[in-house]
Amino acid sequence: MTVIRGATTIATDSAEEIRAAVAELLEQIESRNALKRDEVLSIVFSSTSDIHSFYPAKAAREAGFASCSLFSAQEPEIEGGLALCIRVMLFVEKNITPHHVYLRGARILRKDLAQKYNIAIDGPAGSGKSTIAKLLANDYHILYLDTGAMYRACALAAIRAGIDVEDEVQVCDLMRGLKLSVIYRDGVQHTMLGNEDVSSCLRSSEVTMAASTISRHASVRMKMVEKQREIAGKMSCVLDGRDIGTFVLPDADFKFFLTATPEVRAQRRYEELTAKGESVDFETLKNEIAARDKQDSTREVAPLKKAEDAILIDTSDMTIDQVLETIKRKMQEKI
Ligand code: DC
Repeated sequence: MTVIRGATTIATDSAEEIRAAVAELLEQIESRNALKRDEVLSIVFSSTSDIHSFYPAKAAREAGFASCSLFSAQEPEIEGGLALCIRVMLFVEKNITPHHVYLRGARILRKDLAQKYNIAIDGPAGSGKSTIAKLLANDYHILYLDTGAMYRACALAAIRAGIDVEDEVQVCDLMRGLKLSVIYRDGVQHTMLGNEDVSSCLRSSEVTMAASTISRHASVRMKMVEKQREIAGKMSCVLDGRDIGTFVLPDADFKFFLTATPEVRAQRRYEELTAKGESVDFETLKNEIAARDKQDSTREVAPLKKAEDAILIDTSDMTIDQVLETIKRKMQEKI
């Protein structure tokens, strides 16, 4: 015997919607598992406590599951749980590798089964992008691609080679021979120059400013963007950067643009660096952030910009949890 699971959601609690959603869910389970009706022994439904209008089991009977046993239960209310959701378990009389089916809003319950998807998070330095991107990737069990680290690695290579990051010709030469790669160990990104893991050398203020400057050059951007698209094309991931929603992945499934006032962003960086034991001057940091904002948003190629279809979130007065919850809610609404 095999047990196949699935879930779906409805927009409003009506008999019509329940009938349609149950029929669609069972149809997809049948087709993806090549099931015959008489192989289904029994179907167990559970629905969230906000569904009252109709029994999913009755909808299954109406959809033509005439001979199997059917059962419907109601779930207790779970804070933060998915709303208007119908879950199902099919007990099937054959031994197969089950293809579980999660549709509509319920796709979010099993991101591992759903289609590949990408989340683009853009915004200026200190807007909270990387913190949020890491948490999202962790919650959804998908990859986090820190695209800033790639530009930082380019800057580091230029500094080490004694190249002026303003000089387009020298930078272009450097790019031709640059062996930059991104690998993952235990889900954590490691940015490599050749065989060297340079991840821990990328956060100094020298590299930070040089990254902003070197990222203006088309030769740098083309090479980085190609790699970013390659990674995002293969698997689900959250990418954070400046141009993900506008240029790298204009068709990303979800797009967010985070921002915060320059004071708040400088304060966050200040706290981050002092917590690491670095001695920094707040005013200098504020000026550096302003200089980077200007450079990143006024460059010619793929500047820092909100994509028209990105959701803008001002994180100035929000906690990390609030930003995360807002993003997850917006994603659920969109699915
Ligand atoms: O996100 P970060 O602070 O690590 O980025 C460092 C610099 O890299 C940033 O000032 C501009 C550049 N960058 C970019 O141009 N495009 C991206 N997608 C990511 C970063």
